[in-house]
Amino acid sequence: MTSEQVREKFLRFFEKRGHTIVPSSSLSSDDPSVLITTAGMQQFKPYYTGEKDPLKDIHPNLGRPLGSKNTVSIQKSFRTSDIDEVGDETHLTFFEMLGNFSFGYKPGLARAGTAEGEPRPPKGGYFKKEAIELSHEFITKELGLTIDYVSVFKGEEGVPLDEESEAIWKSLGVTDIRRFGREDNFWGPTGSEGPCGPTTEIYIKGVEVWNLVFNEFYCHADGKLAKLDTPGVDTGMGFERLMAVIIGETDVFKTDLFLPIVKKLEEVAPNLDEQSKKVFADHLRASAFLIADGIRPSNKEAGYILRRLLRRVIAYEVSRDVHSDLFAVVVPEVAQKFSDVYPGLKNTEEILLVMEEEKSKFQAALGRGMKELTRYEKITTADAFKLYESYGLPFELIKELAPKGAAAHLRREDFDKEFEKHQKKSRAGAEAKFGGHGLLLNTGEIKAGNKEELNKILRLHTTTHLLQAALRKVLGNEVEQRGSDVNARRTRFDFTLPRKMTPEEIMQVEDLINNAIKKDLPVHKVEMSIEEAKKTGALHFFGTKYPPQVKVYYIGNTIKDAFSKEFCNGPHVEHTGEIGQVVIKKEEAVSAGIRRVRVEVI
Ligand code: ALA
Repeated sequence: MTSEQVREKFLRFFEKRGHTIVPSSSLSSDDPSVLITTAGMQQFKPYYTGEKDPLKDIHPNLGRPLGSKNTVSIQKSFRTSDIDEVGDETHLTFFEMLGNFSFGYKPGLARAGTAEGEPRPPKGGYFKKEAIELSHEFITKELGLTIDYVSVFKGEEGVPLDEESEAIWKSLGVTDIRRFGREDNFWGPTGSEGPCGPTTEIYIKGVEVWNLVFNEFYCHADGKLAKLDTPGVDTGMGFERLMAVIIGETDVFKTDLFLPIVKKLEEVAPNLDEQSKKVFADHLRASAFLIADGIRPSNKEAGYILRRLLRRVIAYEVSRDVHSDLFAVVVPEVAQKFSDVYPGLKNTEEILLVMEEEKSKFQAALGRGMKELTRYEKITTADAFKLYESYGLPFELIKELAPKGAAAHLRREDFDKEFEKHQKKSRAGAEAKFGGHGLLLNTGEIKAGNKEELNKILRLHTTTHLLQAALRKVLGNEVEQRGSDVNARRTRFDFTLPRKMTPEEIMQVEDLINNAIKKDLPVHKVEMSIEEAKKTGALHFFGTKYPPQVKVYYIGNTIKDAFSKEFCNGPHVEHTGEIGQVVIKKEEAVSAGIRRVRVEVI
């Protein structure tokens, strides 16, 4: 079976049983408590907590409500936790996760639809029984695999032994059931807080293949668990591991998800040792996916993760002289294999441009850094951090490139602590700049220092979108944005118009905006490929380079009939009703052919 077949089988299996197929969300996470998307359940967090209704609220990746309390997805995921282990047979940074999910379970109403040909199940969510039965059916019947053993949560204070799951497994004829503790059989939350719960896991040929999480709790930032009103199901199965098991291997790099990349590496760089080949295959594939999702190398958050992956490859290339340009060789292979499913990868030119830019930035410093490294007999954590700051050498490179023994005692935890200390210092600096209160939001374009300001800015930011749409409706589609600036007092918007606006036109624009506010239109965000986004007619800057995957905000019930649609990274209010009333305070010239309006909300 090929990965393409398994992909299809998995989605159809659950679709037939009443699950809505939901596209993967971006690796660039919207959840402020996590840097990057690490799990399939992240995009569904508000459904577990009851904050959003799967039957009513529009889901950003679908552009409509989920229409069912049961969903299925194959999610692009990235975990840094295993970065030091990459190079063996099973560890990866980027991977795809197959998962089915259910929210809002009410005992008595549950039915997942367990057999083909049954009528579509009612829209009630499901819990342990259905989740376990579905996974068992998929593994044993659809894939024809044999389960070695399963594990369940052994219990601790406040969370009992999962006897219910044990009994369900037994009823399915699984006899080897092992009880494990929190380390192995309790999952979540992602980030600092969120849904979590005990798990049951399926092992095949010694490999942990599928993790079924029973989200019964909400874990607060202080670690306290509170019962969720309605429990839910969140499952995840690493695609690469599953494929390895299907082809009777333990090495994920032997699966067709990696083979084209590995083969290419063997062809163009035959001297590459086995471990480096795996590191390269993982890091290059991961980098292409991160860049396609709009992440760019930087010293912060997701950008820093990407930078580390790229720099590791660059350093290998340079220090071991394996090949002059593996980026150009591998990226097209990644695109070829995955771009049907993830169209953002089609833009290989842009992806390569980002990689090459990072390379040229890093190459000179790398040479100097490597020279500097040879001077050390023993590198302390503080030295390592200085090397990172001065030459951009990430921790793993210092370990790798240092003279024998000089970095043997360096520990990742210590380095991370040093890094964190430094980041805190620079954050404190930024906060001081913004009046001493914690900086809540800084997108580069808009900045807010406290909750009140943030609220005002969100209202004014959405106003800016309404304003642009209204200006075009009144003055014609020749009107083009030239600049905008939002702060907590006003929004300022510059646009093309060869003359002054008349007082009537100003009134019309104001009225259009205030009418849209009165209608309390929903503000939606959808993510799509740049080509699709352009097709929707969403406003964007001509001549600007956008990432392959972009976010479009539209205001209205559907994207087709939206009052406004624009490429934008947000954030915005959820409904226009939150804005209040809008007044245009000023209309003036900025330069020949460019006008400026100042708008406030009251
Ligand atoms: N969210 C669970 C995991 O990532 C399924 O393992």
